[in-house]
Amino acid sequence: MPLSIGRERQANIYLRGLSGKKPGIPTHPGLLEQRAEKCMSRAAWAYVQGGAGSEITQQANREAFTRVKLIPRVMHPVDVRDLSVDLLGKHYSYPLLMAPLGALDLIHPQADLTLAQAAKQTNIGMIFSNQSAVPMESCAQAMGDTPHWFQLYWSSNDQVVSSLLHRAEACGCEAIVLTVDTTLLGWRPRDLNLGHLPFLRGYGLAQYLSDPAFRKSLNDNSAHLSGVTKNWKTLLLAARLIRKGRTYQLSLADMRRAIAQFIATYSRPDLQWNDISRLRSATRLPIWIKGIRRGEDARKAEQLGIDGIIVSNHGGRQVDGERAALDDLMEVVQAVNRLPILFDSGIRSGADVAKALAVGASACLIGRPIAYALAVGGLKGVCELIQNIVAELDLTLALCGCRNVQELRQLGYVYTPPSSY
Ligand SMILES: Cc1cc2nc3c(=O)[nH]c(=O)nc-3n(C[C@H](O)[C@H](O)[C@H](O)COP(=O)(O)O)c2cc1C
Repeated sequence: MPLSIGRERQANIYLRGLSGKKPGIPTHPGLLEQRAEKCMSRAAWAYVQGGAGSEITQQANREAFTRVKLIPRVMHPVDVRDLSVDLLGKHYSYPLLMAPLGALDLIHPQADLTLAQAAKQTNIGMIFSNQSAVPMESCAQAMGDTPHWFQLYWSSNDQVVSSLLHRAEACGCEAIVLTVDTTLLGWRPRDLNLGHLPFLRGYGLAQYLSDPAFRKSLNDNSAHLSGVTKNWKTLLLAARLIRKGRTYQLSLADMRRAIAQFIATYSRPDLQWNDISRLRSATRLPIWIKGIRRGEDARKAEQLGIDGIIVSNHGGRQVDGERAALDDLMEVVQAVNRLPILFDSGIRSGADVAKALAVGASACLIGRPIAYALAVGGLKGVCELIQNIVAELDLTLALCGCRNVQELRQLGYVYTPPSSY
C-alpha cells in the first residue's frame, strides 16, 4: 500500500498536465455524467439513468449527502493511512465494491468482462449481476483471486436458482447477494416512453442463456411473446438475436423462447422471510440481502442468520418518493447489533464514500458512475474512475485527521434531517 495513494494519483494527473494531457475521464462526477450521456444511445441512457416515476427518490438520494457534514479535526498525524476493511473475515484493500449492474451490453458488448478486468487491475471487489452481459465464469476467471460475489434475483424456477448458486460456488464467488427490492420491476417512465426493456431485446441475459437448468427449461416451456407485429424493427431485432444466440449455440427460435421464459420466471413477487431458510440450505456461501431500507427489516434479517445487509433503494429505480438511502442507513445502523452493513444509492465520489462510512457503513457499492465511466472510457475509464474515487477517499480521510476507516467512524458527523420528514 503506497503511503499516500491519493497524493500519488493527484501528482500523476498534474504531472501529465505539464505535457498537455488531461485525465481520460472527467474527475468531477457531474461532468462525467454529462459526458456519459453523449456516449450512450438514447435507450442505453434511459435504462442507466432512469428511475422510478418522476425520479424524486433519485434526487433524495443525492440531496441526503448534502445534509451529512464531516467536521475535520487537525494536527493528527495522518502520514500513514490504511483504507482496508474486513468483511466477514475477508480482507479488502478498499471499502468499495462494484454494484451489480445489469444489461450493460447496452453500452459495451463485453461490459461485465471489462468491469471484471478493471476490478482486478484496481483491486476492488465486484458483484456479478444476475442480469449480466457475460456469464459469471468468464468474469470470475478474469478476476482471479480478487473478491467476486454473485447477485441473485430469486427466479420462480427453483432449478434455475439452485443451478445459479451452484455455478457461483464453483467459480469462486465469495458471497451471494440476494436482491429483494425488485420482485417486480418499478415503473420507469424513461424506458416506458421508448417502449424499451433491454431483456426483451436479448440484453442482460447471459447468466440464463449459459445456464444448463434454464436451457433445459426451454424444451418444455409454453411461454411465448405475444402481440409482436412483424416490421423492419422486429427484423433488425431478429438479426441481433441471431448474433447473440450464436455465442450460446441457440437458434433464433430458442432465443425467442428464452426471452419469453425469462419474462415468465425471472422474479418471485411472493418472496417472503420464510424463504430465507431454503436459500441458506441451498448454498454454503455467506448471504447478503440487498435492498433493506427499514430498521425492522434489518433486525429480521439479523434474527434469521443473514450474514450481512446492503442498505439500498436500487438507486431510486423501484419506488418513486421513498426516503433517501442515506437516511435509511442511519436507521439501520441503529437497529442492528452485529451485522456488517454495506451501502449504495447516491454515491458519486470518494467524499460520498467517506460520509457513508462515517454514518456506519462497512463499505460502499459504486453503481451508476461505473456505467458512466464504461461508456466514456471503456476499461481505462473504469480503472480511472476507481482510482479517482479511492484517491479522493484517501485524501478526505487524511484531511479529516483520520488514518483509517475506524477513525473516520469515530470522528462522527453532523446531520440535518430533511424538513419534510
Ligand atoms: C443500469 C443499472 C442496472 C442495475 N442492475 C442491477 C442488477 O442487475 N441487480 C441489482 O441488484 N441491482 C442492480 N442495479 C442497482 C445497483 O446495484 C445499485 O443499487 C444502484 O445503482 C445504486 O444507485 P446509484 O447508482 O444511483 O448510486 C442496477 C442499477 C443500474 C443503474
